[in-house]
Amino acid sequence: MMTKTEVIESAKNFARDFFKNDHSGHDFAHTLRVYDLACHIAEQEGADVFLVGLAALLHDVDDHKLSPDTAAEKNRSRRFLDSQGLEKTVVDSIVDMIRQVSFSQNTLPPDTLEGKCVQDADRLDAMGAIGIARTFAFGGSHGRAIYDPEGKDSASSIAHFYDKLLLLKDKMNTPTARKLAEGRDNFLRLYLDEFISEWNADR
Ligand code: ADP
Ligand code: NI
Repeated sequence: MMTKTEVIESAKNFARDFFKNDHSGHDFAHTLRVYDLACHIAEQEGADVFLVGLAALLHDVDDHKLSPDTAAEKNRSRRFLDSQGLEKTVVDSIVDMIRQVSFSQNTLPPDTLEGKCVQDADRLDAMGAIGIARTFAFGGSHGRAIYDPEGKDSASSIAHFYDKLLLLKDKMNTPTARKLAEGRDNFLRLYLDEFISEWNADR
């Protein structure tokens, strides 16, 4: 029987290995930041830190962009969890959490506190200074323009701020994340203001 610490260590190794060649913003560093944030939120909110940690470490290994074949059933995560000797009910609940967290157009929030913590952490990592870096990394790797001042290029990286990043603050599930999101959202707005000023040579 593995201890919880050993299972978490093993999940880290599994995710590190899975993401080793990805630098598109969906990499192991993202997974580790989501893990740290999600555990912090879970502690504050009184959620089960082990379940939250495991779901956070696995939340992107069956992402539809990276792994379209396993995305629906989260097969990769399930196979890993089964290999750790966890009870089937535990495996099922983690797989459910991952499925709910990764709905990109999610209409419904996750139905467990643990799922809410992971979703909040994933969204926080798309905000603030880190979110800005990821947005330009994603844009660059997809050949997108930085900015189109005419607003015709809806695929520019700056357009993504308005399409997604600035909307995240109001989508947080937990009070702990809402507070963190406020700081990160303020920084996004400050950054945009400076960006536009410099673009217009006003500063
Ligand atoms: P995750 O599933 O981890 O939430 P996504 O796959 O949605 O992340 O996106 C990965 C990163 O790339 C995020 O930081 C996101 O904001 C950014 N991103 C996604 N779509 C775009 C886009 N069209 N332009 C610029 N950045 C994007
Ligand atoms: Ni993610």
